[in-house]
Amino acid sequence: MVRWSSSRFHNGAFGGLLAGVLVLLALVVSGVTADIQLNETSSSAGLSWTPGNEESGIVIPKSDPGNESSVISAIVSEQDQLDGGFSSLEGMLQWAIGHSDPAALKQSAQDAQRLSAAELNKRQMEIKELMEKLKMPSDAQLMQTALDDLKNSSVPIEDRHRALEELLVLVEPIDNANDLAKLGGLALVVGELNHPASDIRTISAWVIGKASQNNALVQKQVLELGALSTLMKMVLSNSADEAIKALYAVSALIRNNVAGQDLFFSEAGDKLLMDVLSNSSSNIRLRRKTVSLVSDLAEGQLENPVREEHSCFGNQLFLKSIVDLTMSIDLDLQEKALLAIKNILQLKTGNAVILKDFCGLDDALERMTQELDGVTAEESDGDFAVSVENLRREVQMTFHKKLGEETGVGAS
Ligand SMILES: *[C@@H]1O[C@H](CO)[C@@H](O)[C@H](O)[C@H]1NC(C)=O
Ligand SMILES: *[C@@H]1O[C@H](CO)[C@@H](O)[C@H](O)[C@H]1NC(C)=O
Ligand SMILES: *[C@@H]1O[C@H](CO)[C@@H](O)[C@H](O)[C@H]1NC(C)=O
Ligand SMILES: *[C@@H]1O[C@H](CO)[C@@H](O)[C@H](O)[C@H]1NC(C)=O
Repeated sequence: MVRWSSSRFHNGAFGGLLAGVLVLLALVVSGVTADIQLNETSSSAGLSWTPGNEESGIVIPKSDPGNESSVISAIVSEQDQLDGGFSSLEGMLQWAIGHSDPAALKQSAQDAQRLSAAELNKRQMEIKELMEKLKMPSDAQLMQTALDDLKNSSVPIEDRHRALEELLVLVEPIDNANDLAKLGGLALVVGELNHPASDIRTISAWVIGKASQNNALVQKQVLELGALSTLMKMVLSNSADEAIKALYAVSALIRNNVAGQDLFFSEAGDKLLMDVLSNSSSNIRLRRKTVSLVSDLAEGQLENPVREEHSCFGNQLFLKSIVDLTMSIDLDLQEKALLAIKNILQLKTGNAVILKDFCGLDDALERMTQELDGVTAEESDGDFAVSVENLRREVQMTFHKKLGEETGVGAS
């Protein structure tokens, strides 16, 4: 197993940069002065090159062909030693860019023409070989390495954590997330949700959430692996971090996913949401994210009206747990609760009467306007309070309109 560095997964960008440098370097070098030689006998691994000297050559170490990092570090360290040479890879890049001006390129093209076909061919092969040697592992290879660590039960916990951190970065592009599914990696990550250490469970939930987001293929696989109920239990964790990441994963699995929502509600998802929302000791960020999820679920119903509405939107206890959030001292939470109520009011479910009689929405909205009036007077939160007040007014109007429909027109 090749261990690159503490941050293997950054090598993609680094590799691209290096490849670019080498193309430029090879282009200039091949045409202008030096020869590229593979020195089979050399024991001093390194790249040596002196501009303007016909005798110089690039010597590629053959001692350890499997160890790409030795080639790179040899190049970098050799460059460090050059008199007036490059102190870093960046220096090499600067030099290469500086020497890639049109005139130099024209000259090198002319020089190249003077070479025989065989010589050109040989040179190309050598450059290709050099590039192959320096080729960085692909994202799929990096994912496989991380998965090998997860499979290995004797890997220490820090390495397990690091493997998951790497996956967290790697799964961000949708193609990689799909590859993770194809590599059978999702099952491994889902398995980590049962790890005894909270931080391993937390980062595993994070990886699952990130890979599932807006990805029907991954959502389907993760749901089939039965991860949703595990994640739902984790939302009630005593660790706020774990609860938040678990909720993130739950949201990613059920947003815009009908099968996910059905499973969520069949496993008492509405009770879970209520438990978090009505517990004033639960973490404030967790509560904000939970009420946002409610908001999104209601919005999803609006956009997909063929579906029967989830009964929670007509459940008085559920609705009360949201209305009660308007009394929170956290303005952000208040705003998110208003947004959720706004979306819920758009649904066909007759809930305005419940919102009035059981949840006391009328009184809550009145109390809110007085409070917001106080906040606008203060400087810091003033603008935000104004926008929340506008939203509050909108909710109040929608509410009264719907109440009229339900009690008047709706009753006939
Ligand atoms: C290859 O390296 C050895 C040892 O450093 C040196 O003696 C020899 O001249 C080199 N050959 C070429 C072709 O550069
Ligand atoms: C690769 O080469 C580097 C630098 O020479 C060395 O530190 C490292 O131990 C080598 N790794 C392997 C796996 O041989
Ligand atoms: C599992 O991990 C241990 C400890 O890092 C390592 O020594 C061993 O080679 C690994 N096994 C496999 C099959 O990779
Ligand atoms: C409320 O949340 C706190 C903090 O997570 C937790 O310790 C407590 O058990 C919860 N209370 C209920 C009734 O669920």
